[in-house]
Amino acid sequence: MSERNVAPNNLEAFWMPFTANRQFKSNPRMLVGAQDMHYTTSDGRKVLDGTAGLWCCNAGHGRPKIVEAIQKQAAELDYAPAFQMGHPKAFELAARLAAKLPKPLDHVFFTNSGSESVDTALKIALAYQRQIGQGTRTRLIGRERGYHGVGFGGISVGGIVANRRTFGTMLTGVDHIRHTHDIARNAFTRGEPEHGAEFADDLISVINLHDPSTIAAVIVEPVAGSTGVLIPPKGYLRKLREICDKHGILLIFDEVITGFGRLGTPFATDYFDVVPDLITTAKGITSGVVPMGAVFCSSDIYNAFMTGPENMIELFHGYTYSAHPLACAAALGTLDTYEEEGLLTRAADLASYWEDAVHSLKDCPHVIDIRNLGLIGAVELEPIAGQPTKRAFSAFLEAYERGIMIRTTGDIIAMSPPLIISEAQIDELIGTLRDVLKAID
Ligand SMILES: Cc1ncc(COP(=O)(O)O)c(C=O)c1O
Repeated sequence: MSERNVAPNNLEAFWMPFTANRQFKSNPRMLVGAQDMHYTTSDGRKVLDGTAGLWCCNAGHGRPKIVEAIQKQAAELDYAPAFQMGHPKAFELAARLAAKLPKPLDHVFFTNSGSESVDTALKIALAYQRQIGQGTRTRLIGRERGYHGVGFGGISVGGIVANRRTFGTMLTGVDHIRHTHDIARNAFTRGEPEHGAEFADDLISVINLHDPSTIAAVIVEPVAGSTGVLIPPKGYLRKLREICDKHGILLIFDEVITGFGRLGTPFATDYFDVVPDLITTAKGITSGVVPMGAVFCSSDIYNAFMTGPENMIELFHGYTYSAHPLACAAALGTLDTYEEEGLLTRAADLASYWEDAVHSLKDCPHVIDIRNLGLIGAVELEPIAGQPTKRAFSAFLEAYERGIMIRTTGDIIAMSPPLIISEAQIDELIGTLRDVLKAID
């Protein structure tokens, strides 16, 4: 083991994100390598990746096309200014991505993360409404339990209480519709729940309250991921689209998790056959290898900005690292890998095997619901009375000890393995989780 792989003995300086710092630092879990479906830990163990890192390593780890692409790019062009300058791979990547989206989503704005994609989409929505003479439309509507990253825009439209509670008043003029989780009617549903399309009618109430002329956009995750995997009820997303259309409101799908093959189609818009006006992405765009995000918008939206004197900047927005050469190279290498291995649709082939496997946990201790779609699975546990999150976190720790990586939010276990997973590895993941559920209190 090289010296760099030895766990540093001072863990203090790094303030870890979304982590129980003191608990972690008293018993650290260090990853020092990754290849295909496995991580390697600092004590030399292999851990099966049941979560594609953080829902991002869709092509698996250490994939040669991606590694080669970034190595070559670093030597050739390390950085190019993103404002008033370009480099060829940015345009090549935008064109290749646009070709993967349903019409009319054919323009791409590059960011560096999901949070930035969300901020960008919200800003484009507001600026677009103004651009078309609808400047009174300044309200943004999100959904309870929604996760849209951690920028002020994202936490404002987001609906996870812990992510909002301590950060002041956030954006003004934001409202939320109800989430769609309904265990009483939909527990243990395989795939899309039957009940709950009527939750979309909440949007009508919000519109009636504020008046449509004040609302710019609605943002939802097609499948709510970070809150613990809430699958949209049948017909729900189509209903949202119809209501938005009727009232001149833009619909934004946050596909940071569902984008790039997670549901067995390139994007959730394909899976549900509902086309939003804007799509936010990140994560799988580079298979997690280099930070990158992208916002897709319709030509109508793009063209609305392409007016006025040609020497004027049309949208006063962008990041130093928008379309960073290394990120573009990684994304092109990722698209090559996805295309050569058919990964953007592979989850469709595995979906029923995955569904059977995940639902086989139904009779395990503590399980009160199981949900799945594409290559996403969630197991909701009964919380320990008075100690919410503790049971699922114990499962996470036990799972790591037994060689599988799962993710937990609240008392929900979420799984979203790389799209290269084999049936035998699905058996291993779920089999080990079964043992974990039997072992924990
Ligand atoms: C739906 C959704 N939007 C936005 C984000 C934020 O992405 P990032 O952590 O890259 O800022 C996430 C991250 O999990 C997400 O799931």
